Amino acid sequence: MSILVTGGAGFIGSHTCIDLLESNYEIIVLDNFSNSSPEALDRVRTLSNRNFKIYDVDLLDRENVDQVFKENDIEAVIHFAGLKAVGESVQIPLHYYHNNITGTVILTHIMQKYGVYNLVFSSSATVYGIPDTVPITEDMPLSATNPYGRTKLMIEQILSDLYVSNNKWSIALLRYFNPIGAHESGLIGEDPNGIPNNLMPYITQVAVGKLNEVNVFGSDYSTPDGTGVRDYIHVVDLARGHLKALEKVKSSSGIEAYNLGTGKGYSVLEVIHAFENASGQKISYKIVERRAGDITECYADPTKAERELGWKAEKGIEEMCRDSWNWQSKNPEGYKTESKFFLSR
Ligand code: NAD
Ligand code: UD1
Repeated sequence: MSILVTGGAGFIGSHTCIDLLESNYEIIVLDNFSNSSPEALDRVRTLSNRNFKIYDVDLLDRENVDQVFKENDIEAVIHFAGLKAVGESVQIPLHYYHNNITGTVILTHIMQKYGVYNLVFSSSATVYGIPDTVPITEDMPLSATNPYGRTKLMIEQILSDLYVSNNKWSIALLRYFNPIGAHESGLIGEDPNGIPNNLMPYITQVAVGKLNEVNVFGSDYSTPDGTGVRDYIHVVDLARGHLKALEKVKSSSGIEAYNLGTGKGYSVLEVIHAFENASGQKISYKIVERRAGDITECYADPTKAERELGWKAEKGIEEMCRDSWNWQSKNPEGYKTESKFFLSR
């Protein structure tokens, strides 16, 4: 029996594949490489010393997705595949709705056809919209402020309807906070296309000299230093959360949402200073206007995941910064950097 990992070549997916392989799961990766490189999966093979099947398939391609289920004995799906850039989702909303929502409908339809009812879904803390209070618990009101967020919210609702229709389904909705960091080897990490939107990849690209300085979006928020506060979580901790959720969905039925965060918030300036300490690199920054759509503060109450999944984030901000820097400094061009160079060092 195998675990199908959609979007397994991506940032979070590739780290989760390593954990699955190290825990002796058989895996199958389905990815259309629209936002990732096959090189990431080569490196997953190198790191884990395990082989696995890779399908270069688009989730929107129903026939080929069906073929993946026909050819393999799949017991559960971890569903990462989706587009995730908030700004881009405002520009091309139909593309986001089609890719994320239709892709999930096709996937779950085929899962149902083959009697595969165990699903771990990549949701996001974005489904809490503008939270009234922090820390955020799973039962707080849900809303969305952009098309990307709406795709996550709608998919959560679609999956809830699916469970109501057939209670054989067992679904974990994992609401990630802000994943950063990289595998400690520095072989896999986050490789955004073009200029990064998110804070940590922007900082690391300033550190390697690809960008000049960090634009700090606003210093007049009602936070201790005036800059936005977020719950950054190490991607390796996040990956581990998927294995816990997988065990849970395999052993029960139902649909449950879980916050995957550390429960601790850091401001933009705190992250910049933590990165400087961990890397020894000076990070130039300037304060600019607030970014439209940003919220003041967002951090998780992660106690439900600890109570019901037996999962808790373990890695602190220093380790997150150290590993982000290790990845970026060894791979200044991301996956376009020749891997043999540092494998042989
Ligand atoms: P990523 O872009 O690195 O990985 C997503 C993968 O899905 C990519 O490899 C991409 O090629 C693939 N993909 C996209 N559409 C596809 C399709 N139609 N068919 C097949 N493959 C497709 O993103 P990530 O950071 O690893 O995020 C994984 C998931 O977690 C996404 O669903 C994202 O929305 C969600 N998420 C991410 C964050 C974050 O900050 N990284 C936060 C919350 C939620
Ligand atoms: C963003 C997305 C959110 C998504 C999350 C994780 C937006 C509005 N929201 O959240 O939907 O779930 O990423 O992928 O894009 N910052 C700077 N300078 C920068 C970049 C960021 O000051 O160059 C600040 C932001 O204002 C924020 C913090 O850093 O306070 C974190 O930003 P970011 O990494 O983009 O994540 P979120 O805004 O939390």
